[in-house]
Amino acid sequence: MKRQFLFLALLGVFAAIGFAPSTVRAESEAIETGRLLAILLDSGRVVVGANQSLINDPDKGDKNFNPDTFEKQLTAKYKDRAKVDLDNLKSEKVPELAKKLLPQLVEAEKKTVADYQPVINKQGVGFKGFIPATFGTQAAAKFVAKTGVYLKQTTTDNLLRNPKNKADEFEVAVMKRFAEPSYPRTGEKIITEATDGGKTMRVMLPLYYGKGCLGCHGDPKGEKDISGYMKEGKKEGELGGAISVQIASK
Ligand code: HEC
Repeated sequence: MKRQFLFLALLGVFAAIGFAPSTVRAESEAIETGRLLAILLDSGRVVVGANQSLINDPDKGDKNFNPDTFEKQLTAKYKDRAKVDLDNLKSEKVPELAKKLLPQLVEAEKKTVADYQPVINKQGVGFKGFIPATFGTQAAAKFVAKTGVYLKQTTTDNLLRNPKNKADEFEVAVMKRFAEPSYPRTGEKIITEATDGGKTMRVMLPLYYGKGCLGCHGDPKGEKDISGYMKEGKKEGELGGAISVQIASK
């Protein structure tokens, strides 16, 4: 009886200092990396959004909105939002995995801005179709192709504009929770879940409509927005969608 107890106690100690914590650490690092990636993709979207009237200016040729000026604004935005300095990532307290993946997402975002230079700098055209959503879809696709890490912006079916962004079952369920009025609108509060027997962590970051979104997603419902899609009649603070990440934890 005593020996059995000792055995169980030892097992408990092993579990506490050995196996369990390293698994938990790997999982929490994967979650934190997913959260940081989601905020980085959305920060890029926000930077594009902040430059929208410049990009849409028909009178201007060269707009000086290029990969370098984009990166400077992205770095400032990210420091403010994620409290991580992308210029000094090596000394930041973020998981090793994030140190590897964040620069790859920065590259994918810069590459997207680079690809669109001829469009952005075209004189005589107002709306050019380069908006946060197209930027986000393409930057995420480039990142996925390079790293194999799943990253996408998505939304509920009733709001879906680009079928490539269609949500899966898990994403639909999480967005229901994000849409609840009691869910915090600030603080970048994510929802996570382990899948694949704990080998993969899923991370979702909510995107709520702000004033700047309503020109395209707001009222009058059914009217065409500048991008040619129907406005959805949404209000400020309502859920627009989410950024979804899946990342291996071992
Ligand atoms: C200039 C018009 C415009 C503005 C402003 C705009 N969007 Fe969109 N949004 C679009 C278009 C067009 C798409 C589809 C783009 C694509 O092809 O991927 C889209 C797609 C999305 C998606 C991806 C899911 C889908 O429907 O394909 C989300 C989420 C989203 N928008 C949320 C927002 C939020 C939140 C804001 C404000 C921060 C915002 N949008 C501002 C036009 C706009």
